[in-house]
Amino acid sequence: MQRDETVLVTGASSGIGRELARCFAAEGCRLVLTARRQAELDALASELRTRSGHDVTVITADLAAPDGARALLSSMHEQGLSPDVLVNNAGFGDRGAFADMLPARIEAMLAVNVTALTVLARALLPAMRERRRGGLINVASTAAFQPGPWMATYYASKAYVLSLSEALHFECKGAGITVTCLCPGATATGFAAEAGMQGSLLFRLGTMDAADVACAAHRGFRRGRAIVVPGWRNKLGAQSVRVSPRAVVRKLVARLQR
Ligand SMILES: NC(=O)c1ccc[n+]([C@@H]2O[C@H](COP(=O)([O-])OP(=O)(O)OC[C@H]3O[C@@H](n4cnc5c(N)ncnc54)[C@H](OP(=O)(O)O)[C@@H]3O)[C@@H](O)[C@H]2O)c1
Repeated sequence: MQRDETVLVTGASSGIGRELARCFAAEGCRLVLTARRQAELDALASELRTRSGHDVTVITADLAAPDGARALLSSMHEQGLSPDVLVNNAGFGDRGAFADMLPARIEAMLAVNVTALTVLARALLPAMRERRRGGLINVASTAAFQPGPWMATYYASKAYVLSLSEALHFECKGAGITVTCLCPGATATGFAAEAGMQGSLLFRLGTMDAADVACAAHRGFRRGRAIVVPGWRNKLGAQSVRVSPRAVVRKLVARLQR
């Protein structure tokens, strides 16, 4: 099936975002790819142009910059691009004691994981509602389901994404729009290196493939799901924290981060 949709993917230069872009391109969607690394985006764009036979636009943007999301929106507006689907995927984490983390690193994380995601959703949802089609995939994490000692800001940022997404899913019911929150567990991407957690117990226990995670998210979005937790182990983890005492959960997560 060929879909007449324009899809904006943030964080498309690697990992889950790149795989999600491939999923939408396989449906024949027009893609708008954004991240900071131009060369990676250009390489993906030329691959997808061949695959989908449609336009692929590359717009570099730093979503940690105070005006990053606004600059991206202006650039799309100037080029006459109005996405039907927004994949809010850009994000990063950092491991360490909260009190020792660089304040600038915390601010950048909140800017990308929380502020830019919210600004983009708010800017693009009204046109989707008017057209009564499309929607959002917001990428949270299994981190969203509980607090995360030694990665406190990241876990809290993803709890925000899950909470916002579930509320928007409800508000958009009946408006022809789907809002899906993707909650992956450990996945083999650039994430672990960026967060300094390659040696953590969480990643040593095993990872999922980014392509499998993206495929589950894409399928869930097309089926109108509110939350997608890919993989049986992640599903089990997300469910078990709901019935476990919070003091036990905090201890367990702290061990997984170490
Ligand atoms: N991998 C995991 O284990 C895992 C688990 C749960 C949730 N997640 C979430 O999945 C999402 C994708 O991460 P990933 O695993 O695919 O890791 P990744 O390979 O490191 O990709 C992260 C993407 O975010 C972009 N990004 C980071 N900072 C940015 C900035 N300041 N401005 C614009 N773009 C920025 C990066 O692009 P540039 O560097 O080119 O800017 C990159 O394309 C993130 O939201 C992450 O929190 C990952």
